[in-house]
Amino acid sequence: MSDFRRNITCLFALAAVVLVGCSQRMDDQPKLEPYEQSSFFSNGLGMREPIEGTIARGGLRLDTHFFEGRVDGKLAPTLPEQVELNEALLERGRERYDAFCSACHGRAGYGDGMVVARGFPAPPSYHSNRLQKVPVGHVYDVITNGLGRMPRLSDRIPPADRWAIVAYTRALQLSQNVQATPELRKKIEEQLAAEEKAAEHSHEEGEHHE
Ligand code: HEC
Repeated sequence: MSDFRRNITCLFALAAVVLVGCSQRMDDQPKLEPYEQSSFFSNGLGMREPIEGTIARGGLRLDTHFFEGRVDGKLAPTLPEQVELNEALLERGRERYDAFCSACHGRAGYGDGMVVARGFPAPPSYHSNRLQKVPVGHVYDVITNGLGRMPRLSDRIPPADRWAIVAYTRALQLSQNVQATPELRKKIEEQLAAEEKAAEHSHEEGEHHE
C-alpha cells in the first residue's frame, strides 16, 4: 500500500470514530420524543397538548363558503363574494386545471385524460346532464375532499385557486353546450369570416414589408 493510500485510510478510520462518537452522544442523551409517556405532566405525556380549539395563526376559517364551498351546511350554488368572476380568474383556472385535473379529466373535461388512456378508471364527463346541474360548491368540495377514486387535492391547491378551477370547469361546460339560435350562428359566422379576412390582410401586409 502506498503512503498516500495508507494516510487516506487512516484519515477515514479516524473520521468514522470521531463522527460516530459525536452522533451517539447526541442520540443517547436523556430526552422524550413528542407524545411519549411520562409522569412529568398531569396528562401523562412528556409534553403539553394545545388547548382544545386552538387555531394556528392565520388558520381561522370561519368563512365556510370560501373554505368549504358550503353555505348553512349546504353546497354553495354561487361563487363566494370575494371571488370575482373575470377573465383573469378564468385564465388562472385554465392554467391550474390543465396542471392538476386534465391528466385524468382531459383538457375539455370529457374524462379522457392521459392517465385514463394508460388504464386509470375514467372519471365521469363534466358534460353529462348530472354534472352540468351540480352546484359549484360540489366541484369545490370534490377538489377539497376527493371522491371515490379521486384523490383530495386540498394540500396542493389553495382555496382561491380551487375557486378559479371551479369557475373554469363551468366555462368548459358552457363551451361544449352552446345552444346557437340561427341568428347567433349567423352572427358568429360573420364574425369569423371578418376575422379571417383581417388575418389574411395583415398576412399580406406582412409579406409586403419583407
Ligand atoms: C388522478 C386522477 C384525477 C385527478 C388528477 C382529478 N380527478 Fe376528478 N375524478 C377522478 C375520478 C376517477 C373521478 C370519479 C370518482 C368516483 O366516482 O369514484 C373524479 C370525479 C370528479 C368529479 C365528479 C364528481 C361527481 O359528482 O361524480 C369532479 C367534479 C371532479 N372529479 C373534479 C376534478 C377537478 C376540478 C380536478 C382538478 C383540480 C380533478 N377532478 C382532478 C379522477 C381525477
